[in-house]
Amino acid sequence: MTISLDTIVNLSKRRGFVFQSSEIYGGLRSAYDYGPLGVELLRNVKNEWWRSMVQLRGDIVGLDSAILQARDVWVASGHEASFTDPLVQCSNCNSRFRLDKLDDQDLCPSCGNRKTFGEPRQFNLMFKTFMGPVDDETGLVYLRPETAQGIFINYDNVRRAARKKLPFGIAQMGKSFRNEITPGQFVFRTREFEQMEMEFFCRPEEAGRWYEHWTKDRYQWYLDLGMSEDNLRIRPHGHDELAHYAAACSDVEYRYPWGWDELEGIANRTDFDLKAHSEHSGTDLSYYDDETDERFYPYVIEPAAGATRTTFAFLMDAYHEEEVRGEQRVVLKIHPKLAPFKVAVLPLSKKPELVGEAEKVADLLRPHFLIDFDVTQSIGRRYRRQDEIGTPYAVTFDFDSLEDRAVTVRDRDTMEQDRIPVENLVRYLAERLP
Ligand code: GAP
Repeated sequence: MTISLDTIVNLSKRRGFVFQSSEIYGGLRSAYDYGPLGVELLRNVKNEWWRSMVQLRGDIVGLDSAILQARDVWVASGHEASFTDPLVQCSNCNSRFRLDKLDDQDLCPSCGNRKTFGEPRQFNLMFKTFMGPVDDETGLVYLRPETAQGIFINYDNVRRAARKKLPFGIAQMGKSFRNEITPGQFVFRTREFEQMEMEFFCRPEEAGRWYEHWTKDRYQWYLDLGMSEDNLRIRPHGHDELAHYAAACSDVEYRYPWGWDELEGIANRTDFDLKAHSEHSGTDLSYYDDETDERFYPYVIEPAAGATRTTFAFLMDAYHEEEVRGEQRVVLKIHPKLAPFKVAVLPLSKKPELVGEAEKVADLLRPHFLIDFDVTQSIGRRYRRQDEIGTPYAVTFDFDSLEDRAVTVRDRDTMEQDRIPVENLVRYLAERLP
């Protein structure tokens, strides 16, 4: 189903997934805060990425590099000179736009007057700040616009410490910052966001094969976590779209409310980065293969995803409105691995003897699953609320439970209910929650 962006923005605020940053001060555009449910969903997305990249493979290790790096890093990588977007400004209303994102119409999208935009200028997207107590060029540093460079500058440290031979990868997740000219579409394009990137180092002649491998693997990751195949596609870039460092690139694209757009990019970065950092730093980052007695710069295949953007896509994809037994409901059919709460414990009424016993059931489950405990409103409304936030199972403790020590477990998707003895509850849920 196609849903509007407003629907997701409203759900996010109402239920505590995502809030506008600095809202009580009027809001800071293009920065967002993740609420109690959003922080769980985002963390689950990142955990699943880490699990598939690092835990389930023997050839990829992790890294967490600093956000602040030497300015020279960004000179060597080419970002200081060319990490730019073409900026134009309307001479009538002074609104600024990214030239490459404007449509062909003759009118300014902001004021509606005839376009009088003048010559575009290249605008560098890196945020600047100053290291130490003096605000001048000598202390200039950038907030990283990608996590990738932190990996390249640590390539030799990691290779030696982890005793890795080609092919191997280094994975990193964390914040990145870009002073986007036109942020928007909620958390799709923001100025502060989180990335999940992996740099896979291999022999140059194997780069093509690994590029194919990672493109397929990353596409499959979204499907395995329940994203609809109809809303997902791979789009290879044309030659005119390739970044200065890339020999090939494909995007995994998602069908957003405004159409197909990028979710993740998989690029063959060649030996560009290791060569550039070797030349600029004077540290030789070439690789010696003792089996073939060859020295060369490894090629790099990079799957680069956005954690915040991916979280948003999973949220949108899971959103369903449906009619069941004559009743309308909103249900987030999110994969149980990603669901913020795994189980809700709901005493049928507010009677203290019921609430007290239901608390004991919640305590029994808490070491195993993230639990929501809810006593407010009617049981029907509480089920609806749990459906809307994607909780896979709701456990109801009723008056019979006091006698038979069993509870009713309701499945979010089928809405079917099972009566389960409390002593078997952890096992029952563990078998169903991956
Ligand atoms: N190291 C390569 C790199 O950073 P990118 O295509 O510019 O490539 C990778 O970024 C991913 O990071 C994108 O596919 C997107 O998911 C996410 N991303 C990039 N800019 C973003 C922004 N302004 N807001 C949210 N996510 C962003």
